Amino acid sequence: MTITIAQSIEQRFGVSPGEGVHDAPERPGEPALVRILERRTHRRYRDEPIDEALVETLLACALSASSKSDLQQASIVRVRSEEKQARIASWLPAMPWIGEAPLFLVFCGDNLRLRRAAALRGKPFPNDNVDMFMNAAVDAALAMQTFTLAAEAAGLGCCPISEVRTHIERLTELLALPAGVFPIAGLCVGWPQRAGYVSMRLPPALAVHEDAYDAAGVEEKIEAYDRRRDARYRIPPDRQREVDRFGAADFYGWSEDKARQYSRPARPGFRDYLRRQGFALE
Ligand SMILES: Cc1cc2nc3c(=O)[nH]c(=O)nc-3n(C[C@H](O)[C@H](O)[C@H](O)COP(=O)(O)O)c2cc1C
Repeated sequence: MTITIAQSIEQRFGVSPGEGVHDAPERPGEPALVRILERRTHRRYRDEPIDEALVETLLACALSASSKSDLQQASIVRVRSEEKQARIASWLPAMPWIGEAPLFLVFCGDNLRLRRAAALRGKPFPNDNVDMFMNAAVDAALAMQTFTLAAEAAGLGCCPISEVRTHIERLTELLALPAGVFPIAGLCVGWPQRAGYVSMRLPPALAVHEDAYDAAGVEEKIEAYDRRRDARYRIPPDRQREVDRFGAADFYGWSEDKARQYSRPARPGFRDYLRRQGFALE
């Protein structure tokens, strides 16, 4: 069954897009727009390989992502060794999809090449700062998302894995990441076993601002979102986080879940790791 842009927006946000433009029939590029609106993470894959020509095409798509100042600070490590993939999976037993994915990639921010180019051309390199780090991280994220959208267009499903950063030292050693290179996330890729579902997002009214940022009514809009999302798919009681610390909640919505998730520091050693990896972060 073909789904329209209006239907897919409603599915994505749980709110109607309203009358007008979204209902226009046969908008140019409609199938591609609907595919993006309907995109979803896939964590279960059929036991079926991805042919080599397709993998190469998708990697080429990833490297076609836009890049800050054409500095091209993204690299991709394709984990071909089954032993290495199994090792990474063994660090994260709660995510069996890492070991099961027919293709596993690690996307990295990378300014090794810029540093080498500076040395090659005998130029100073005074940009070892937070801005440069962010540019590399953004390039890597754009490459990962471009890969993902291309893979989804080809019928594949993907799941990013930032949890690999919980084991960043081991990963860096396993993949021999040199100074100037840091992983942003892994990516599982495979033929989806199931249809999956569209995860409801915060509404455009909260995340899109016109001319100036508007934080009015954020709390009420978050609460309304919690309720809409809960009505579509409730987080089961056994998935509540930190029950020992915060108790079991009668109503456990998205904001309760995210507040609990971020009530503990996440990867506090990351800056020290980056420094060891050669980033001054000035
Ligand atoms: C940078 C990034 C890191 C992620 N890391 C993980 C991860 O470690 N494990 C996992 O199962 N999913 C991971 N995800 C998937 C998210 O949980 C998923 O995108 C989110 O729940 C929204 O669902 P959707 O992509 O289906 O819309 C990650 C997603 C992104 C963008």
